[in-house]
Amino acid sequence: MIKLIKFKESDIQRLISWIPDCKFLLQWAGPHYSYPLDEAQLLATLDKTQGDSPSHYMYKAKLGTTTIGHIELLSADYAAGKAVLGRVLIGDEEYRGKGFGLEMIQSAMKIAFAELGFTVLDLGVFKFNSGAIKLYEGLGFRPYRTIENMDDENWTLIRMNISVGDWEKTGAATRQTHLPMTLR
Ligand SMILES: CC(C)(COP(=O)(O)OP(=O)(O)OC[C@H]1O[C@@H](n2cnc3c(N)ncnc32)[C@H](O)[C@@H]1OP(=O)(O)O)[C@@H](O)C(=O)NCCC(=O)NCCS
Repeated sequence: MIKLIKFKESDIQRLISWIPDCKFLLQWAGPHYSYPLDEAQLLATLDKTQGDSPSHYMYKAKLGTTTIGHIELLSADYAAGKAVLGRVLIGDEEYRGKGFGLEMIQSAMKIAFAELGFTVLDLGVFKFNSGAIKLYEGLGFRPYRTIENMDDENWTLIRMNISVGDWEKTGAATRQTHLPMTLR
């Protein structure tokens, strides 16, 4: 079972260790950060999580006592009811492809829609990242815009979103999302 816990300063070095090169940094986080990712850049993001209505929420994902992932809700626009789901990462390759990413995103969606009250979640994913796109589509996200050549790599970005109503239709709002792997 994956549990999302607030990301803290003491988690910064682990997250940095998961980013092997600049292309991966771009794939994971878009063009916001510059490589090498460092403490100062992450402290600046962590700063945005402070206060009563932060623009940012950062989480680490724990599997038992081991931290295996990272996820964020960013660009929170409380007036419009919108936020962006991003910086989605299962850190070590050995933990990928085992359903943990799915579970981590489901948990973040539940926080966004059921706890924080957002009505639309948006995300950006590069077109070549077909595994991630399949995952987001399976969770109910739908593409609504394609942006060509959006960065130094000339990668094509796909924007996807989901409304709280469509999320509820998937059953995720009521379903027990933390079923043991063997029961799925
Ligand atoms: C994207 C990421 C978070 C997915 O987490 P994960 O734990 O590997 O994914 P899951 O095991 O939960 O996969 C769930 C579903 O997503 C799809 N999926 C995930 N990775 C896939 C891949 N490489 N190829 C095809 N389908 C994939 C599958 O539909 C899978 O369902 P299945 O179990 O029926 O095959 C993870 O692979 C990762 O950290 N990638 C590097 C960082 C990154 O690209 N982040 C996304 C930025 S937008």
